[in-house]
Parts: sequence; structure tokens; C-alpha cells
Amino acid sequence: VTPPPSARGDVTPAGLLVRNAHLATMVGGAGPYGVIRDGALASAGGRITWVGPEASLPAGLAAGEVLDAGGAWVTPGLVDCHTHLVFGGDRAGEFERRLQGASYEEIALAGGGIVSTVRATRAATDEELVSSARGRLELLGRRGVTTAEIKSGYGLDVHTELRMLRVARAVGEATGVRVQTTLLGAHALPPEYRDDRAGYVRLVCEAMIPAAVEAGLVDAVDAFCEEIAFTPAECARVFDAAAVHGLPVRLHADQRTDQGGAALAARHGARSADHLEHASVDGVRAMAEAGTVAVLLPGAAHFLRDDTVPPVEAFRAHGVPMAVATDLNPGSSPLLDPLLALGLACLLFGLTPEEALAGMTRVGARALGREGEIGTLEAGKRADLAVWRVGHPAELCYWMGAAPCVAVVRGGLVVTDL
Ligand code: NIG
Ligand code: FE
Repeated sequence: VTPPPSARGDVTPAGLLVRNAHLATMVGGAGPYGVIRDGALASAGGRITWVGPEASLPAGLAAGEVLDAGGAWVTPGLVDCHTHLVFGGDRAGEFERRLQGASYEEIALAGGGIVSTVRATRAATDEELVSSARGRLELLGRRGVTTAEIKSGYGLDVHTELRMLRVARAVGEATGVRVQTTLLGAHALPPEYRDDRAGYVRLVCEAMIPAAVEAGLVDAVDAFCEEIAFTPAECARVFDAAAVHGLPVRLHADQRTDQGGAALAARHGARSADHLEHASVDGVRAMAEAGTVAVLLPGAAHFLRDDTVPPVEAFRAHGVPMAVATDLNPGSSPLLDPLLALGLACLLFGLTPEEALAGMTRVGARALGREGEIGTLEAGKRADLAVWRVGHPAELCYWMGAAPCVAVVRGGLVVTDL
């Protein structure tokens, strides 16, 4: 890839022409990967203005900056639609305990698990949280991610939850990766509310959500519906509170046990239900009717050594769109490599490489409600691209531990010093 002269500039170029590229546009219904071989793409003002075979490039578009991709593949910038990348500490000690036989649930019930990360997050300074989260987001950015969702959920009090959301926004600004924030106050019951579950759910609904809205820090609301977390009725209360503020909702659903989470998410018109290893076919049907996206998180299944596969065949049969994300978090998915998430989606869950890549582009964008703006290479969308030194898009799922991303384009601005 030959960087254009002003590649290091920090202003959006007036016009960019990407040429000598093979494009995986990921446009639905446009053939496998929406491929355009020997393609070109033009952008102006941060938006894509033209996509097609280079041979048909209209003459007027050839002006401006040029990125010669040297025959590399170009995809939409990756959309990692489910992460928890702001947190204090790590859980490597818990990893060791699990490998000696303790289960994720046993550790959680003994006061470890999510709550141990809550202790470390509350104790961390803003600077510590920013610096560790920034490193993680930079890594995703270098590996082709141009948009990431970041959840709170390791604060579990109003002050720390808002702090997490503020840190999430700050690391977006600092790295140039577009960040969407999600309030996950209903992630676990904090120790100070051990004997007052209803009181904590009230805190989430009546204090946390309004405070996050008031501070302008929140784009969506999530909850963890699970035996070790919150009941369907408690999650429904959180969703109702989100609805009062017009916030879209999502759900950690049916990850470890079937709680009817898929159907609950669908009933509340959730943008997505996530994990879903134990979702029932009835839940899948409800998601199809509601247009709820299934977000698959193979990093968590792998790291928790859970061999239960989400009902992928049923998602296909009922037309539920499948997204794929890293779930980057310290307890169940310390996964810093978006391409490894794609490979695991293929190997553990049986997605095709094309489904997996669509899951981290077009469908990931839909899980964030941004499908009109990002996720495919089409005129009108943001010029967010990733450039890959591979011979075919399937290689993005095939290699384990490769680093084929040679450039990204964010809003029409080329970044080659990855
Ligand atoms: O997506 N499932 C709930 N939340 C995270 C894990 C959080 C943790 O263990 O720290 C997840 O897997
Ligand atoms: Fe998660």
C-alpha cells in the first residue's frame, strides 16, 4: 500500500480515491462478499461517493488524494458491536482457578467473577482506566475495527458507571475509533445490595439511567439475564426504564442457561440479543418477528470452554441476522483480535466465513442501529474501510494470529501507521 502524501494529516481529506483494490463490499444480495474485483472507491467529505470496477471510474472522480492499494482487499471497517473493554485489573488468577476445576458460576457466587472486576474498577483512577482501555481499543483499531461498542457494567454505582461511560467516550476520541456506549448497570448485583435486589434494580432504573441520559453519555441500555445475574422480570424493569428515555435496548441472553432471554429481548423490541448459546427455537422465532439481531460471541464460549452451540441453523431458517463480536472483557473473553473472533465463529459455531465477516460489518452495524451509515461499501455511507494483505476475504477467518490489516480509512482519512 502506497500512502498518499498527506496520510498523516488530521483533517478529513476533501476527496479520496482508493484504486487498484479488490472490494468485499459486503452488500447483501450482491453475490459472495459483494465482491468487486479490480475495483475503486471514491469518497468526499468523509462519505463514500462512488464504488465500482476501476475500469468504469467516472473521469471527474479521479481527482484528489489517491490510495493505491496494490491489489490488496478492501472491506468495510470492522464493527465490533459488543465489548466491555473499560475495566480495572484482570482476571488471570480466576483463569488459573478455572483450570484447576472451579466453574465460572462457582467463582461468581463466591464473590469473584464480575464483582472482582467491579472492585478493581472502582479502585482505579480515571487515568488508569483510560490508559488500559485506550491500549485495548488501539489494538482493535490496528486490527481493522473502525467502530466499537463499549459497555459499562463494572461500576455498579451511579458514579462509577458514569465514569466508565465517560472513559469509553474519551478513548474513542483518543484513538479515532468510533465508539457507541451502552449502560450495563444490570450486570451483577453489587455486594452492598446483596440483601436488596429490588433496591438495586430501582437504582439502575431511577438513578443510573436518568443520570447517564442527563450527562449525554449513553446510546443504549443492556442487561445480563442469567441465574447468576438478573431475572427476566428484573431485566424487563430495566428495559421499561430505558424506553421512558427513548433508549434502545439489548440483552445478554441465554448464555449459560435458557432464561427465555431471546423472547424477552424480542418482546421489548431489542436491537440485539447476545450470546444465545441456550436460546430456544421459540425465542429465535420471536427474534425473527421483532427484527432482533443475534450477536454471537464465540470468544466467550471458547474461553469458558462451553461447547454448547447457539441455534445457528434456526437463525438461518427464520432469517435472524447474525452479528459476531469479540465480547472483549476480563472474565469470559479476553479477546483482543477481531479476526480470531471471526475464525472462532466459523470453527465453533459453524458460520461460513462470509457470514462471519458480514457479522462484523453489515450485521454488526445493524446491532448498533447504524446500518444506514456504516457496515458496507456503498455510496452514501461513511468512508470507513479496512485494507487487508490477503488473497481472498475468507483468509480473514482462516489465519489464526495473522496481522493482515495494512491500513484503515476513517471518515475518508487514511491511517497507514498501524
Ligand atoms: O459478556 N455475560 C456477562 N458479561 C460478560 C462477562 C463479564 C465478566 O465475566 O466479567 C460477557 O460474557
Ligand atoms: Fe458481554
